[in-house]
Amino acid sequence: MKLDGNTVLITGGGSGIGLALAAAFLQRGNEVIICGRSADRLAAAKRWYPALHTKTADLSDLAGCQELSLWAADRFERLNILINNAGLQRDIDFSGGASEFLSGENELRVDLEAPILLSGLMVPLLAGKRPAAIINVTSGLAFVPSARTPVYSAAKAGLHAFSMALRHQLMPLGIQVFEVVPPAINTGLNPQGRARRPRLKMDLEPSEFAAVVMADLESDVAEIGYGFSADAMRASRAEIDRRFVQLNAP
Ligand SMILES: NC(=O)c1ccc[n+]([C@@H]2O[C@H](COP(=O)([O-])OP(=O)(O)OC[C@H]3O[C@@H](n4cnc5c(N)ncnc54)[C@H](OP(=O)(O)O)[C@@H]3O)[C@@H](O)[C@H]2O)c1
Repeated sequence: MKLDGNTVLITGGGSGIGLALAAAFLQRGNEVIICGRSADRLAAAKRWYPALHTKTADLSDLAGCQELSLWAADRFERLNILINNAGLQRDIDFSGGASEFLSGENELRVDLEAPILLSGLMVPLLAGKRPAAIINVTSGLAFVPSARTPVYSAAKAGLHAFSMALRHQLMPLGIQVFEVVPPAINTGLNPQGRARRPRLKMDLEPSEFAAVVMADLESDVAEIGYGFSADAMRASRAEIDRRFVQLNAP
């Protein structure tokens, strides 16, 4: 895919991997729009990168996704790349029942339903553009689930399946569907959970991973992984079982 002259909308682009991708796309001469819930975070991003366009949006419900897509279509007729990056991760223990699942933010809405809905809402705007792309950010945990984050792992596995199916459906429209599969990266994702896992290696910075993603997008690699996630994506069932035991060791 051509990586200059595009208009790119990145959900959750105010921090972490999304912000690193925003910076990389800006540097390559693209127009970049980022969104998220925190106006302060978006304002800070705009101070670092004044060319960014920003929009506050809460993607945890249907109305927030619809409002964002209408806003973007209204102002950015040339929009041709959607990056579904916004996400959250929670440690959830089901051994005490459903109470932990019901008491916090809903990962299924943000990590799975929002990218599905935004993809659908954006298809009319993307169709006919060349290039046109939807880029879904999943996780290595879509392939080897973490027992500490069962709903997150399930949501990302669902988004992986959706991305494969969507790629097939949208091919005749000329809309490419990419899946970006990060390994563990040093961001603000799930800080409480990560603080409980001192052995988790977080030595990969978002900017390093963004450079890998840009190179692979340019080469039309449909599923983009790195390190652990690249291995997990291609693992046999026996290898997945082995990695599952390793990942979930006490
Ligand atoms: N870091 C890793 O190790 C890792 C590994 C695999 C996959 N990933 C995936 O990579 C993506 C980016 O995560 P990250 O690691 O860069 O973490 P991050 O810095 O916490 O970024 C997540 C972004 O999502 C936004 N967001 C969360 N809930 C939202 C909502 N309801 N509506 C709109 N925006 C929302 C957040 O902005 P606000 O809080 O301002 O809304 C934030 O900017 C996620 O999909 C994550 O699952 C990360």
